Amino acid sequence: MHKDLYPVKPEIAKNAWIDESKYKEMYEQSIKNPEEFWAKQAERLEWYSKWNKVKETQFTKPVSIKWYLGGKLNVSYNCIDRHLKERGDKVAFIWEPDNPEAAVRKITYKELHKEVCKLANILKDMGVKKGDFVTIYMPMIPEATFAMLACARIGAVHSVIFGGFAPDSIADRIADCESKFVITADAGYRGSKVIQLKENIDKAIVKSDNVKKVLVVKYANTKVEMKAGRDLWYHEEVQKVSDQCEPEKMDAEDPLFILYTSGSTGKPKGVMHTTGGYLVFVSMTHQYVFDYHDNDIYWCTADVGWVTGHSYIVYGPLANGATSLIFEGVPTYPTPSRFWEVIDKHQVSIFYSSPTALRSLMREGDQFVKNTSRKSLRVLGSVGEPINPEAWAWYHDVVGDGRCPIVDTWWQTETGGILISPLPGAIGQKPGSATKPFFGVQPKLLTLEGKEVQGAGDGVLVLADSWPGQMRTVYRNHSRFEDTYFSNYPGYYFTGDGCRRDEDGYYWITGRVDDVINVSGHRIGTAEIESALVANHKVAEAAVVGYPHDIKGQGIYAFVTLKAGELPSDEVRKELVQTVRKEIGPIATPDLIQWAPRLPKTRSGKIMRRILRKIAENQPDQLGDTTTLSEPGVVQELVDNRMNK
Ligand code: WT7
Repeated sequence: MHKDLYPVKPEIAKNAWIDESKYKEMYEQSIKNPEEFWAKQAERLEWYSKWNKVKETQFTKPVSIKWYLGGKLNVSYNCIDRHLKERGDKVAFIWEPDNPEAAVRKITYKELHKEVCKLANILKDMGVKKGDFVTIYMPMIPEATFAMLACARIGAVHSVIFGGFAPDSIADRIADCESKFVITADAGYRGSKVIQLKENIDKAIVKSDNVKKVLVVKYANTKVEMKAGRDLWYHEEVQKVSDQCEPEKMDAEDPLFILYTSGSTGKPKGVMHTTGGYLVFVSMTHQYVFDYHDNDIYWCTADVGWVTGHSYIVYGPLANGATSLIFEGVPTYPTPSRFWEVIDKHQVSIFYSSPTALRSLMREGDQFVKNTSRKSLRVLGSVGEPINPEAWAWYHDVVGDGRCPIVDTWWQTETGGILISPLPGAIGQKPGSATKPFFGVQPKLLTLEGKEVQGAGDGVLVLADSWPGQMRTVYRNHSRFEDTYFSNYPGYYFTGDGCRRDEDGYYWITGRVDDVINVSGHRIGTAEIESALVANHKVAEAAVVGYPHDIKGQGIYAFVTLKAGELPSDEVRKELVQTVRKEIGPIATPDLIQWAPRLPKTRSGKIMRRILRKIAENQPDQLGDTTTLSEPGVVQELVDNRMNK
């Protein structure tokens, strides 16, 4: 049905940074002589003083990852000040509000410099010092990016929390890094909804008492409580400070930010990224993967609350002096033409979005796309989960009018930047494949026993050597870092993903092999949802798995055992959904809840998720070996009552 290979388009290759032979040559150099290769790449930044060693990395215990050792630089300087002489009046950010009738904001590099300096000075006045943690919980407004860059300017470490997280999740994240400072706004918009951010922060702070100061951006003009001595209005503070602030000279390995992400067990972990290697890597991948050129208008539709927003709305694009579009809204509001209208309105040439957004728009019908021009588009990107070939073809043929290459970019919060992806002028695409490794990236496939798969085949995806954007540690828990990523397959970084390599050496990500599910491109640990469910006093036990969902990629399927005496009903179902939304946030809302009088367990009492997964996937004939179950009858009971027959 679909053509197997979409070869590189000659008109794209002609003007691209990297063509096929250049890719081969550079890739080879990057593997043969990484030190020389990455030293040259680091020259894309301005350093106060150069590193004395490019790379010192070890994937066996004790795991240690360091890049550009001894180098000094500042991220905010490199993203802003460095461009002032030649691009001071160039627009750094275009802000497109949720409401298409509301005013657009355009912020030049010169203006950005002033805003970031002012906010950096406010932070200093609040008592923020180099190395302090600052929590950012903001709507998608330019001030969110000013906040990140202001932290980077003074050497504070930011921890951005996605606006969809509930007070309990915020409290956990504030407590884990003992953050004393919060930057938020009164409220934000998402489609037709208002999200009360300040109220959520207030509730979170009650649970973690380390917070000393809260800076509040007045944005939606909702009524909020301001606690004297703790809460400050941004618009008042900004009047009092200078618009000049010297950037702090940071070490290449000083932390830049932490970002909490879900794993297979326990609470989310603080993924730590540092200064030098991260910025080199996101700048380089942004340039080459999107074939970014100076006159491009670049739009990544992610939220700054996720790593995609960090690396490809803020740091990568700004390091390259780009014009980056910040979109506050959602794809379907007010109509399913919204994305394409924004593209026309701002003449967007590079567009980077997610399979889940594309699928939700695809089902609305082509007319919502075809009533727009989209002539400005040159490169299309996808991230977050595997893109199904149907959505790929729609993206290519309908959105891109067959003219634009699609870069399906595989990476993770942990990797900092894109690791497997086509380069528009160098690598032909196959719908559904992330294609080939970026420079310096050495993917390998291993069997579950750790044997390397040669040539075409299936396995778990591991990486054989470090790249500069790699996370350095789990904040305050280095042994969790070592255990999660480096102990199953010693000597390799374990991605948690399954993968297939075809005869042409193309990589096809097949999804997580651990207990992490990917809902609309958001990563959620099944363990987190289970512990939220059992927080409800009616629940005795819960087991959560993913199942295929047309729009979201994966949906959340919960098997719940109620306590003796509790009766299952639709009301209880609704109550449990509310419990999860309250404990974690709307992104973890279960799609299906099946009452399970009993759960399938091994004789040692371990829940057999493999079986639950098959039931949720509606493949009751593929349950596999059930002989080790303590009560084999349980399974048939669950199969008979499954929710998605
Ligand atoms: C997981 C990482 C990195 C930004 C967004 C998600 C899945 C991500 C792809 C892709 C297939 C993908 C993987 C990965 N994933 N991109 N292009 N093709 N799968 O970041 O929340 O850290 O999730 O998302 O399973 O491990 P994240």
